[in-house]
Amino acid sequence: MKITGICCLIMIMVTGNISAGETNSKINIIPLPVSMQAGKGEFRVDVQTSFVCTSTDSSAINVVHVLSECFASVCEHKPAICAQAKGKSNIIFISDSSLYQELGKEGYFLQVNTKGIEVKAASPAGWFYAGQTLLQLLRKDEFGNTNRWIIPSVTIKDYPRFAWRGLMLDVSRHFFSKEVILSYIDQMSKYKLNTFHFHLTDNQGWRIEIKSLPELTKVGAWRVSRTGYWKGFSAPGPGEPATSGGYYTQEDIREIVRFAQERNVTIVPEIDVPGHSLALIASYPNLSCTQTPQQVLAGDPWNVSRTNVLCVGNDSVYQALNLVFTELAALFPGEYIHIGGDEVRRNYWDECSKCRQIIKEQHLKNSEELQTWFIEKVARIVKSKGKKVMGWYENLEGGLVPDMAYMSWKDYKGGIRAAAEGHKVVMTPAFFTYLDFYQGDPAMENGPFTVCRLSSCYAFEPEQEGAKMENILGGQGSVFTEQIPNERKLQYMTWPRSMALAEVLWSPKENRNWQSFVNRMEAQFPRFDQAQVKYAEAFYEPVIDAVKDSSGIRIQMKTEVDNLKIYYSFDDCSPDPFYPEYKGEPVSIPKGAHHIRAVSYRNGKQMGRELNIPLEGLIKKFSSK
Ligand code: ACM
Ligand code: ZN
Repeated sequence: MKITGICCLIMIMVTGNISAGETNSKINIIPLPVSMQAGKGEFRVDVQTSFVCTSTDSSAINVVHVLSECFASVCEHKPAICAQAKGKSNIIFISDSSLYQELGKEGYFLQVNTKGIEVKAASPAGWFYAGQTLLQLLRKDEFGNTNRWIIPSVTIKDYPRFAWRGLMLDVSRHFFSKEVILSYIDQMSKYKLNTFHFHLTDNQGWRIEIKSLPELTKVGAWRVSRTGYWKGFSAPGPGEPATSGGYYTQEDIREIVRFAQERNVTIVPEIDVPGHSLALIASYPNLSCTQTPQQVLAGDPWNVSRTNVLCVGNDSVYQALNLVFTELAALFPGEYIHIGGDEVRRNYWDECSKCRQIIKEQHLKNSEELQTWFIEKVARIVKSKGKKVMGWYENLEGGLVPDMAYMSWKDYKGGIRAAAEGHKVVMTPAFFTYLDFYQGDPAMENGPFTVCRLSSCYAFEPEQEGAKMENILGGQGSVFTEQIPNERKLQYMTWPRSMALAEVLWSPKENRNWQSFVNRMEAQFPRFDQAQVKYAEAFYEPVIDAVKDSSGIRIQMKTEVDNLKIYYSFDDCSPDPFYPEYKGEPVSIPKGAHHIRAVSYRNGKQMGRELNIPLEGLIKKFSSK
């Protein structure tokens, strides 16, 4: 390929090793690869650029087809796929099983230079991830010429730190269509996340067709329609139709599974029992202790009065679950099925003669031990279908169920204990990984529960002191959707925080670097814009708090990321660079002020939203009770 004088200049600028702390304005990969060396010049994509697929394995060929579509969606050139190199401009995919030792199933070598691109991996998963790295490297040439796409020369060796790099999506609280799920899986795979935990059932809806239990989708998939803040949702009126919801047919599920497989994503379906089961009970009321008719839940306050727990002493429960898990196991090829097990309201069992009878017969101490007994019985059903069993970690007197894997959600402690006792563990501690938590100031976010900022996600660390690491499979972000009614909000809650989680779970721990991550993350945003995927910019916004010292109550501000200026006002007007700049020292509240407004700027440009926060809320923590 002919190299122009300008090209030579660019080559000199980009040559050399790239370490974690540095950023190279042309190479901004998330998650950060294990090792990377920038080369000279660049590969130019042209009309002849083809993918050479040297394997006849059908899953390898599928991966190359998917990557070709991905290229087309970015640069409007769809590489042809051929078995042998033709012409000059080739991206060659080589399969070499001897690389398994060094790279594992998902790792890859990538070599880009002016003459061509070579990908080597032990399996199609490695090809797929090399392809995702290439897509992140792909950009318009230096002059923004729309017809010229380039990939800077670079040599990369890459493989993941953890095998389980997940996202959980709750499709019960709000239903998301098959198309949304496909797009969600596609997006997560771009950042090398490989496990989609599908929370298919809860009090607010049953979302999967089970042919042997048709009421689940006739009744359980539908609730009354409510709009707004879920905590305020009223109970269904008498005879009010249940029109809100939906479910995936088994054909939909097969399509989702196929689509995920082509992107190296394994789906872990969850049926959450014995709590969180109101949709199941609304469909089959005989499965609860009270056996009274129930309706699928709409929102929160109404929850407390509903029977959402399965009766442990009723054989029909196990018969129904056997049918459910038989069909589920046939639909999902992954090794795990998740059976929930969290937040069980055991008071129903204490008041139920059938449940008390089991406690007596099995010589159990109490309903906590009964919960472990139930989980163990359901786990046996799942194992009989040839699957491994996973559940939420609950710190029960009855102990952990042998052979079961646990998902540690309240904190790290449960995961450390379960791993120490020999269980496989996935870490998803809420304060670091719950993406339903709001990510900016609550005044702006309308999210439930509490805060989990981008920087908290980046501080997530599955390797905890005392944890037996050979049992830690990895971690995941978890997206419960009580307050996520549509796809745009779902995207907003998922990104960019899932980029932080992806890097934690893939990249070497010693390479983690917040500022480098932020720079590389910002370089991803045009890709999100092009794909029309929404992302939050709350991380730019001021973090505002009240402090009390000898000068009284004052206001303190900071930002999560560097290189921002904060301008503020107390006079109920929108601040901009003509307003006072916050200089790091707390500021006094002028007499009469009732709100503070603050906004971040970088190089004269507003970053994120203007915050407008009532002072009363900020200072109430200092009011004497
Ligand atoms: C959970 O958040 N209840 C798993
Ligand atoms: Zn009972």
